Amino acid sequence: MIYGIIGAMPEEIEALKKSITSLTTHTVGTKEFHTGKIGSKDVVLCCSGIGKVSAAVATAIAISRFGADIVINTGVAGGLKPETHVCDVVIGTATCQHDFDLRIFDYKLGQVPGFEPTIKLEQQYVDAGIKAAKEIAERFSFNVHSGLIISGDQFIAGNEHNTKLQQNFPQAYATEMEAGAIVQAAKTLNKPAIVIRTISDNANETADMTFEEMLPLATRNSQKITLKLLEII
Ligand code: ADE
Repeated sequence: MIYGIIGAMPEEIEALKKSITSLTTHTVGTKEFHTGKIGSKDVVLCCSGIGKVSAAVATAIAISRFGADIVINTGVAGGLKPETHVCDVVIGTATCQHDFDLRIFDYKLGQVPGFEPTIKLEQQYVDAGIKAAKEIAERFSFNVHSGLIISGDQFIAGNEHNTKLQQNFPQAYATEMEAGAIVQAAKTLNKPAIVIRTISDNANETADMTFEEMLPLATRNSQKITLKLLEII
């Protein structure tokens, strides 16, 4: 079993890269894929770059070229609910693309043709993600949520945009820029995915400042959970 791990920004994978033993770095185009072991598990780790296209490309390569059997997406997100506090963790149960709009042809907002309106993640892996998150939460005291994560090629930093997303996707816990693409790409190649996202900001008027300030702590939580997940899965 090979575990593909994708994070968008270098900060989101740094600690994981340091945990890889027998590390080999492979270059594919402009991207680096790091293979080796974390504990007893074979991994391929990639910093995809920000946004849905970059994330989908990295996922497809991790699976098709490096044999990933499952994809773990680790990173940060903007919280969309009153209870999603900065440093809390959301384990995705489903994803969609909030900026994908074919409603004129009777699709739901966020739905990609050929897929469900929100793409569900496999329960056994959601449960494993929640278990790993709860174990880390005990030590670092944050809350663990699970639910819909919505992705778009936009950093949400305004109450107006945030309110619109909450109206359009009332079940959503968090918004970010890759998970929907990673889950879709994995599903297209018949592989399961797990999404682990720590809240770095509340997607409001001050989100850009909070994001920069909280990035180190938020990425730490997601990476610690990823390491725990690889231990228990
Ligand atoms: N990732 C972290 N915070 C985000 C936000 N507010 N919008 C989009 N992606 C994010």
